[in-house]
Amino acid sequence: MPIIYERFEGAVADAAAPLLHLCRAVFPDFTDSYLLDRLGRLEEPLLWLAIEDGSWKGFKLSYRRGDALLYSWLGGVMPELRGQGVASELMRRQHADAAALGYRFAETRTRAANNPMILLNLRHGFQISGFENDTNGMPVVILRKPLG
Ligand SMILES: CC(C)(COP(=O)(O)OP(=O)(O)OC[C@H]1O[C@@H](n2cnc3c(N)ncnc32)[C@H](O)[C@@H]1OP(=O)(O)O)[C@@H](O)C(=O)NCCC(=O)NCCS
Repeated sequence: MPIIYERFEGAVADAAAPLLHLCRAVFPDFTDSYLLDRLGRLEEPLLWLAIEDGSWKGFKLSYRRGDALLYSWLGGVMPELRGQGVASELMRRQHADAAALGYRFAETRTRAANNPMILLNLRHGFQISGFENDTNGMPVVILRKPLG
């Protein structure tokens, strides 16, 4: 089945159920409230989807943080579709959109132990801009990319 890439055009809060389904499959030990507590409050969310045969198989969710910064919050691809460039394509589209919308930077945080995601970010032009421990004490790398 071909994979179709689409920007979600509705209110992201209306996508809570399918997004939760994806997050549970994509992230080990996902806590539903992590998504649900914030989903309805994101400023200008931008949601890109990878869809196969009508079902959501990958996503990339970002939102506005200030004048010029798009913050890339959450993303992932179902295990059975990994290694086929799906996350790359979602990121490419997210960044093209962001540049077209006038954002000058994208920023993201990635757990320091998540090599696949750090490599993916670096391949797409992110540069490491910091390192910190998150609220759970997990080490995270902060990455930033100039757009356009
Ligand atoms: C990280 C993740 C999104 C990558 O998705 P994917 O569709 O398999 O990635 P792609 O096929 O587009 O790979 C693009 C690049 O990412 C890097 N990459 C992806 N998976 C990798 C792996 N297992 N090991 C090393 N590098 C990897 C590579 O640089 C790759 O480019 P290459 O194939 O030319 O070497 C996916 O593994 C995932 O959903 N992980 C769990 C969720 C997660 O960690 N999300 C990030 C935190 S929000």
